[in-house]
Parts: sequence; C-alpha cells; structure tokens
Amino acid sequence: MVNAFGFTDYGGPETQEFLDRPPLEPGPGRLAIAVRAAGVNPIDWKIRRGLFGRERQLPAVLGQEASGVVLRVGPGVTGFAPGDEVFGTAASGGFSEQTLLRAELSALKPGTVGFDQAATLPVSAATADDAVRELGLGAGRTLLILGIAGGVGTIAAQLARTRGLVVLGTASDANRAYVDALSAVQVPYGEGVTERIAAAAPDGVDGVLDLVGGDALRAVAGVITDRTVLVSTVDPVTVAELGGSFVTRATTSGTLAALAALVGSGELDPHVTHRFPLTGAAEALALVESGHARGKVVIEVA
Ligand SMILES: NC(=O)c1ccc[n+]([C@@H]2O[C@H](COP(=O)([O-])OP(=O)(O)OC[C@H]3O[C@@H](n4cnc5c(N)ncnc54)[C@H](OP(=O)(O)O)[C@@H]3O)[C@@H](O)[C@H]2O)c1
Repeated sequence: MVNAFGFTDYGGPETQEFLDRPPLEPGPGRLAIAVRAAGVNPIDWKIRRGLFGRERQLPAVLGQEASGVVLRVGPGVTGFAPGDEVFGTAASGGFSEQTLLRAELSALKPGTVGFDQAATLPVSAATADDAVRELGLGAGRTLLILGIAGGVGTIAAQLARTRGLVVLGTASDANRAYVDALSAVQVPYGEGVTERIAAAAPDGVDGVLDLVGGDALRAVAGVITDRTVLVSTVDPVTVAELGGSFVTRATTSGTLAALAALVGSGELDPHVTHRFPLTGAAEALALVESGHARGKVVIEVA
C-alpha cells in the first residue's frame, strides 16, 4: 500500500489524516510517479474547506503539484518513460509516496534542478508566469504585487525584474529583507498603504498583480486608473467589480520546461524556505494556511 495524506470530509485541519491507498495505475494521459517532493499551496486547504466545490470522492489526497521518478506511463503518453525524473500537476494528490501526474502538464526535470524546486513550478511559478505575461508590461514600467513574499509573488517579482520592470510589493516588515533580496521594494500593507505606494513610486504604478484579494485589493485599487492592467489570481469577484480581470491560466508542458530551465540556469529561484517530511504534512499545510508563509513550502518524500 502507498502512504498518503488527505482529508476525509470537507472542513478544517481536523478532517486530515494519513491514508493507505493501493498503487495507482495510470490511465490515458497520466504518469504514475514515485513522489520525491510536493509543493504546498493555499489551494490545498481551500479544496479541503470545500471552497472549490464538494463533489470530490472522499477521502481525497491533498497536493496539486509534485516531482519524482516515472514508474509507469498511461496509454497515449509520449515523451516520458519509466525512470525519467519529472515534475507536473498532480491528478491524484501529491502528498503521497506515489501519485499520478497529468502528462500534458508535466515536463522532464533538468539535472540541475532539485526535486524540491521542481515541485514548486506547476502551481505557483506557472501562475506567476501567466500573470506577468498577461500584464504585458514593458521594460521600465512599474509593477505593484500585493502579497509579494508568498510563493506566487516570489516568482512574479523575479520574472518581472527579468523583463526590466521596477517592482514594488506589499508585505509585512518581517519580509523587508526578503523582498529586498528579490530586487523589489517592500511596502508595508495596512492603513496608509496608498500613501506609502505613492512615496515608493512617485511616477505612479503601471500595473497591479493581486495575490491577496478582498479589502487589501480594494485598498490599493486607486493607485491605478487603467484597470486593464489590474489582475488577480485570488479574487475574481472583487477584481471584476474594480474593472480588472482574473488571471487566465495557460500553462503547458512547454512553459513548465521553460521555467525549469530558468531555475537550472540560476535565473529563477523559487525560494524553498521550509521542507517537511511526509509525516509532517499537517504542519506544512498549517504553515501555508496561516497565510504568512514566505516563499515556498515543500514536502519531501524519502
Ligand atoms: N488562480 C490560480 O490559478 C492560482 C494559482 C496559485 C495561487 N493562487 C492564489 O493566489 C494567492 C497567492 O498564492 P501564494 O501561493 O503566493 O500564497 P502564499 O504563499 O500562501 O502567500 C503567503 C504570503 O501572503 C502574504 N500576505 C498575507 N496577507 C497579506 C496582505 N494583507 N497583504 C500583503 N501580503 C499578505 C504573506 O506576507 P506577510 O507574512 O508579510 O504578511 C505571505 O508571505 C492564494 O490565494 C492562492 O490560492 C491562485
């Protein structure tokens, strides 16, 4: 049997437990992998809380992104073979000794990229990549990222800097040095944030990437008049009310391979700040669920 961490009902962390499941057989378009690492994301606790519907077959295994070694390939899968080191979008929960990946959202892992780093690319890095592309800002323009110190913000800041953008980001003072290291300017959030943004960007802001939503998004909306360059990954309702848009996800195997190449060449760093063993999956998810994880949290599977 395969050890996995999941939830037995929709709700809080008390619904989580370790599960035994039989080895998974890959159907069409799927890869069965021995998991080496799994990225931890807010979507994991949001799914568990039922915020993305309540139609899943329970118990369900947590985790949307994983890296590992291919065990078996399903019918119709090309470009992957048993023994390949890969990473991709998990089709059956990444917090597990084995899982299935969606082959069309997977890529080969370069030897220069760690399993831990690769496991962070399918969700947060790919989302950041989609968002920065969608904004389409050119060199010299100024981008404001709400929630810059988290998994998506960390990558978005670096991709934006690579495009020659000036980057500001809201984060607590505890993350000032971290944001500095991303070559971005930290702006404390909370009361007075628009004044602080104006002081940090006297010529104004040319685009906003929202990774927080709600009141934090409303509080800064006034800094930008052109709402075609206001995008959110988290709050489709508020961003639409404000005239902006929800980021369209457009990830492919090709974009994942390109992100891995950037990590391998040292141009992109997912900043894996916390590594937990599979036995620490509850602690890993609790850290992300706190809303204040810095960079990326990863579960490593022996
Ligand atoms: N649409 C999609 O396909 C998609 C994909 C990926 C992620 N998402 C969503 O995008 C959001 C961000 O994801 P993530 O992985 O980056 O999350 P994350 O890593 O959990 O974000 C944690 C960060 O949020 C910061 N934060 C918390 N409250 C804040 C506030 N009021 N203002 C500014 N920063 C604040 C924290 O910084 P401090 O500790 O300094 O407060 C912390 O560094 C999540 O809601 C996630 O569900 C959507």
